[in-house]
Amino acid sequence: MHLLFRLYRLVIQILCIPIFLSDYFNRETGKEYGIGTWTKLILLYKMIRNNMKIISGSSFIEHIHMATAIIKLPKSVEGVVVECGSYKGVSAANLSLVCALCDRKFEIFDSFEGLPEPSAQDKSHVLLSAGELHTYTKGTWCGTLDEVRANIIKYGNINICHFNKGYFVDTLPHFKKKTVFAWLDVDYRSSLEDCVQYLWPLLQDGCSLYTHEAAHSEIASLFFSEEWWKNKLNTIPPGLVGAGCGIGFKILSGSYFSSSMGYTIKNPDKINFNEVPQIGGIKINLQSSMRLTSTSALRSPELKISKRDSV
Ligand SMILES: C[S@@+](CC[C@H](N)C(=O)[O-])C[C@H]1O[C@@H](n2cnc3c(N)ncnc32)[C@H](O)[C@@H]1O
Repeated sequence: MHLLFRLYRLVIQILCIPIFLSDYFNRETGKEYGIGTWTKLILLYKMIRNNMKIISGSSFIEHIHMATAIIKLPKSVEGVVVECGSYKGVSAANLSLVCALCDRKFEIFDSFEGLPEPSAQDKSHVLLSAGELHTYTKGTWCGTLDEVRANIIKYGNINICHFNKGYFVDTLPHFKKKTVFAWLDVDYRSSLEDCVQYLWPLLQDGCSLYTHEAAHSEIASLFFSEEWWKNKLNTIPPGLVGAGCGIGFKILSGSYFSSSMGYTIKNPDKINFNEVPQIGGIKINLQSSMRLTSTSALRSPELKISKRDSV
């Protein structure tokens, strides 16, 4: 019975893949860069292959989700793509392929010696939704610069990559390039704070910042901390899509969809948001549910449910 249930979950998971890929394969996505269906299929194949070849901390669905966000960026928005936290380089290899397709430089930051000594707060993290306690020690998740470089040469595109070796607190303060996309897969709250403090001012309006620890209470809470954002960046917290359980890419414990990934957007243009008057009652709006992607080049949330007077 247990095996049957696991099989059932696997089938559901596989059946969901076309839904997760629908925005990526939308004809408008990547059109500005001349990225058509054939190129997308090749990229998808390479990403799946890379995730099978390189030991990884993240999944190809998560990489495709980020690829979609990057190739939807208007060409006119200048800037580089940034990764903080490479491990053996699978997400770096995949993002390097995406950057090459849209002619963007790719900046990779890592100690290339694994995690630093954890602070008291980072010795363990709570994942309430998964019922897990993640514990950390110095030196784990280590991928050396040689390993990451070799993997990108073999499986990605090294020509547009630039490596920044060292702890974030030492390297990021010197980084001054306009940024259009930031991917932070850094495990610790302290590491995330360093990344956000130095990258947020460089991130262009309407652009996304992703975290791979959205399900961690210690990480998600940063994106809602009035005090931290006021003190460090003199602004209000942007919030986090997927806070506490991640974007729903995989079935967690058989009961609901979850993942490690979450994102936020800097100063999103609310002109693209659907206005939904809250006047009571819920009706499933099938027409809007069937529409797959936004017309905006930048991400604009498409609300699937609208509310109306209750009967
Ligand atoms: C979970 S791994 C990244 C996984 C990778 N993105 C993947 O998809 O396989 C976390 C990485 O963050 C790096 N890291 C964490 N905190 C850091 C810090 N303060 N300075 C530099 N590197 C750090 C570690 O060296 C490690 O490579």
